[in-house]
Amino acid sequence: MKMLVTAGPTREALDPVRFISNRSTGRMGYAIARAALGRGHEVKLISGPVTLPIPAGADVVDVVSAADMLAAVTDCVPWCDVLVMSAAVADWRPSETSDRKLKKDRMTDVLELERTTDILRAIRALKGGRLFIGFAAETEDLLAQAHRKLKEKGLDAIVANDVSRSDSGFAVETNQVTLVMPNGQQEQWDLLSKDDVATRLVTWIEHHVAQ
Ligand code: CTP
Repeated sequence: MKMLVTAGPTREALDPVRFISNRSTGRMGYAIARAALGRGHEVKLISGPVTLPIPAGADVVDVVSAADMLAAVTDCVPWCDVLVMSAAVADWRPSETSDRKLKKDRMTDVLELERTTDILRAIRALKGGRLFIGFAAETEDLLAQAHRKLKEKGLDAIVANDVSRSDSGFAVETNQVTLVMPNGQQEQWDLLSKDDVATRLVTWIEHHVAQ
């Protein structure tokens, strides 16, 4: 199968030296790409700025901003059988990006932001028979939020991840996730290494993808 994976954070530039971003390191998405390659699938990996080695055999598309990621995903979705959106896409960007370094004596203390496009919502019309899987990183009401996002974004499954735990989420090697599916179904997985979460997710996908 052909699997499109997004990973890592996006960066939203304020000026040539500053940006807004988040704590994603890309580990989960890269682990999914490796697990899929290990099972003999074709993988395109759309990656925000991370410091991880490229998974051998993956076709990597490097992006920086949420707008870049939207363009790359829109371009690649027609190719894929499965999309796994594990990237932590920034929800806001500065309303203006300066091409010169901003100077504090010439700036107000308030930063004006605007919303980025929700990629999963934007590409919903391209879904067809493809499997679309999202991630939900939450610090409260984990499962309620995951069920809401699953429905609003028209997904086949969402991996709900409690990032308030010190052993799960950003910049750690393990994850405790619940796979949330339509019709209120959910499956809680044990605390596993990100590689093991990735292998389980790829196995789940293999059982659910339209062949
Ligand atoms: N996502 C996306 N485009 C965005 C933001 C998020 O496609 N601009 C995707 C993420 O890759 C993830 C899913 O949507 O698969 C949920 O992301 P998350 O950040 O948890 O949720 P948000 O949609 O940002 O909602 P909220 O602000 O309510 O947490």
